[in-house]
Amino acid sequence: MKTEILSKAKLLTLATQEAVSQKDALLLLAFILKTTYSRLFFKKEFLVSDLELTCLKSFLSRRGKGEPIAKILQRREFYGAMFKTTRDTLDPRPETELIIDLFREHYLATQAELQLLDLGAGTGCIGLSLLRYYPNARCCFVDISEKALDVVKDNAEALGVWEQCSFIKSDWFEDVSGSFDAILSNPPYVALGYNLDVETAFDPPVALFAGSDGMSAYARILPQAPSFLKPDGLLYLEIGFDQVQKITQIRTSLQLLKIEKDLAGIPRTCVFQNAK
Ligand SMILES: C[S@@+](CC[C@H](N)C(=O)[O-])C[C@H]1O[C@@H](n2cnc3c(N)ncnc32)[C@H](O)[C@@H]1O
Repeated sequence: MKTEILSKAKLLTLATQEAVSQKDALLLLAFILKTTYSRLFFKKEFLVSDLELTCLKSFLSRRGKGEPIAKILQRREFYGAMFKTTRDTLDPRPETELIIDLFREHYLATQAELQLLDLGAGTGCIGLSLLRYYPNARCCFVDISEKALDVVKDNAEALGVWEQCSFIKSDWFEDVSGSFDAILSNPPYVALGYNLDVETAFDPPVALFAGSDGMSAYARILPQAPSFLKPDGLLYLEIGFDQVQKITQIRTSLQLLKIEKDLAGIPRTCVFQNAK
């Protein structure tokens, strides 16, 4: 039952006390009231129950401590769809959408029965986004984290592509078998000890860190990928802002086809191709 009128002024006071912006406060309230930010934006007051107000105060306090909105609401938009995300998964990032764009550019609207491998799946945002565009494709989702794979399963069901999915808990390729048209991976690439911004610190360490130089995941993936790709198969790999030189020094029989920059002009996605 709605029992209290919360004025916008009071909302802003509560937000300011926790050092939370007006936009974030409205986003959190919109989620609680099951409405949208834009609907709340022009309102001067909101009808809320005691429970909703308690929930809002808790959300504002968490946001004030730096927790990202996505972690508080357990969801984040990626390539036009909403993905569940938890403390066990990396929140999908906009720069990772570049992999989807490049893949779609290459394969256009093929009806082929593509076999895909999403390596280090996290929320499954890469493979699941592709399955929405390629109804005849199948994707195998691999992660070392069982809890991350549970999130992929929830997202696969919610997006209606469950039938096209399989799941393997594996340390990179260790328990994977088969031959794929494309492997897609945004592996951990942060150097141990790197000073993370406050929001990234809420992502799980296993999703972020890759040895003293941030390259240890690539050093495993690049040499092994050719054995899991069909002839001419493609590997799409996201890289960190300063890793473009180092990535070309890792031994692999794959040929580097393309390095694509993200919207900030940073080399972000490498595309490699297997031999014929
Ligand atoms: C940077 S996150 C990317 C998640 C998701 N693909 C995305 O783009 O948002 C890296 C993922 O790799 C997984 N991972 C880390 N080490 C791994 C390993 N040795 N084998 C398999 N997956 C691993 C992590 O659990 C995490 O989900």
